[in-house]
Amino acid sequence: MFIHRRRGWEIPESAVTPREAVLNRRALMAGSAGMMAGSAAITAPALAQSGAVPPLPPHEINLRYQPGRALTSEREATTYNNFYEFGTSKTISREAQRMPRRPWTLKVEGMVERPLELDIDALIRAMPIEERVYRLRCVEAWAMTVPWTGFPLAALLNMARPLGSARYVSFQTAQLPAVMPGLRQSWYPWPHMEACTIAEAQNELSFMPIGLFGQPLPPQNGGPLRVLFPWKYGFKSGKSLVRIVVQEARPPTFWGTIQPAEYGFWANVNPAVAHPRWSQATERLIGTNERVPTQMWNGYGEFVAGLYEGLQGERLFA
Ligand code: MTE
Repeated sequence: MFIHRRRGWEIPESAVTPREAVLNRRALMAGSAGMMAGSAAITAPALAQSGAVPPLPPHEINLRYQPGRALTSEREATTYNNFYEFGTSKTISREAQRMPRRPWTLKVEGMVERPLELDIDALIRAMPIEERVYRLRCVEAWAMTVPWTGFPLAALLNMARPLGSARYVSFQTAQLPAVMPGLRQSWYPWPHMEACTIAEAQNELSFMPIGLFGQPLPPQNGGPLRVLFPWKYGFKSGKSLVRIVVQEARPPTFWGTIQPAEYGFWANVNPAVAHPRWSQATERLIGTNERVPTQMWNGYGEFVAGLYEGLQGERLFA
């Protein structure tokens, strides 16, 4: 893994948070993290009980995954969202602030040697935290490019030790009816559950973000913890996860249950395979509204194309 301290993703200046602002914010974060570390044993549980979200731990920036385009502005990325639990419009960010991000527990269970039930802060302490800039491509043909802080999904799976016969991994979002008005739309098959194969889950790109733009992951983007598969359409990347299940049979998925003809299990990005109702040949960059060509595998083919050899009979792209 190539890890450097240099902030390569800050090079394109047009839509980027000013460098000074980022550096100042990170210096502040490092300071407060240091202060916290001194009294962590006393303050961490108390913080969780108060519902306060601690700052991200100090971490490095991984430059292996170059985005090749300017960052989306933080404001756009955090105010233009899909999170149907809060409603079907893109403007759920204010509503989502009501979701408590502490205390928070993640379970990893099913076909694993060591089932886990982890407090989010204990999980963060146990995982190798780093920042990566990824492109995210929504099936609706919009896209953004943002820096996520998190850890490889493979690191979490290694901790749980999947059994050799396990084939699939599913990801379940929290259901909090008191703060999620979308759950009252009973025609949706809640909870939001998407899934992938174990090989996809163990791919180096599969990532579990806990932060965005150097801050704890906001609720509207899936805080405190989500998953990301940057070569797949965004609906596969579940938000605000509470449960991960390793299993043998292919699990039913949220969007595959709603409309199987439009949202398949694999959902890999491909400009040549149109959605039944629109072309996927180009995508709109949120913030600037520029239209650019869609990239095969969302530009991540060198890392993931090999996963699909021998699977040509499957509907890999829609
Ligand atoms: N996860 C849950 N639980 N609920 C959702 O509605 N929407 C998905 C995905 N994860 C969704 C979800 C879709 S369609 C997209 S494109 C991305 O989240 C959007 O992530 P963002 O709002 O952080 O850009």
